[in-house]
Amino acid sequence: MNQPPRLVVLISGAGSNLQALIEQQQAHQTFEIVGVLSNRPQVQGLTRASAANIATQVVDHTQYPTREAFDAEVAKVINTWQPDWIILAGYMRIMTPQLVQQFKGKLINIHPSLLPKYPGLRTHQKALEAGDHEHGSSVHFVTEELDGGPVIAQIKTPITAQDTEQSLVERLKTLEHRLYPQVVSWLVQGQLRLQHDNVYFNDKELSTPLIVT
Ligand code: GRF
Repeated sequence: MNQPPRLVVLISGAGSNLQALIEQQQAHQTFEIVGVLSNRPQVQGLTRASAANIATQVVDHTQYPTREAFDAEVAKVINTWQPDWIILAGYMRIMTPQLVQQFKGKLINIHPSLLPKYPGLRTHQKALEAGDHEHGSSVHFVTEELDGGPVIAQIKTPITAQDTEQSLVERLKTLEHRLYPQVVSWLVQGQLRLQHDNVYFNDKELSTPLIVT
């Protein structure tokens, strides 16, 4: 029997998106999360991985003199797991170009904004301050540009007058738990690829991101 595609998930914190992927794996077994790497020790995501019998490894960025040295160790750990795909799920380190190059086309990230709007941090606050009527999350292939890689898919939510940063954080996380498993399922079924910095879905170049509802 063919082995299912191997996923490595990189985290820095709570790992609720990791949890959504673990549940998808348990329900369908169309992929296997073979390792979870965190740059922070003792985060909830590591506990979630262990509870699901997934191998974990901490590479603590504070213990490395340079970003290059840290990323070299990250690459080493990732390679020991021989993944087909590397999934960033709340991983809060900017990757060096060397690391991105090594895994380009196999590396995706989830970002809480409707990219290209609001790369970087405090995206919910930025959407509120701009008076936006909608907000959302994006999954994109990772390239050397921070939160700048080609977008695969998005999920959207209206912003209401009652919304606060906290309410948006919570609502969006719930939506992300639909978005990320959907994109990962396309990925492991071979429906997505990155070519010349463009996304192809079922062999057709995407002109706009797919919308997940
Ligand atoms: C998510 O909102 C994701 O978009 C962002 O970081 C958050 C991670 O949350 N990149 P969790 O650790 O998966 O709960």
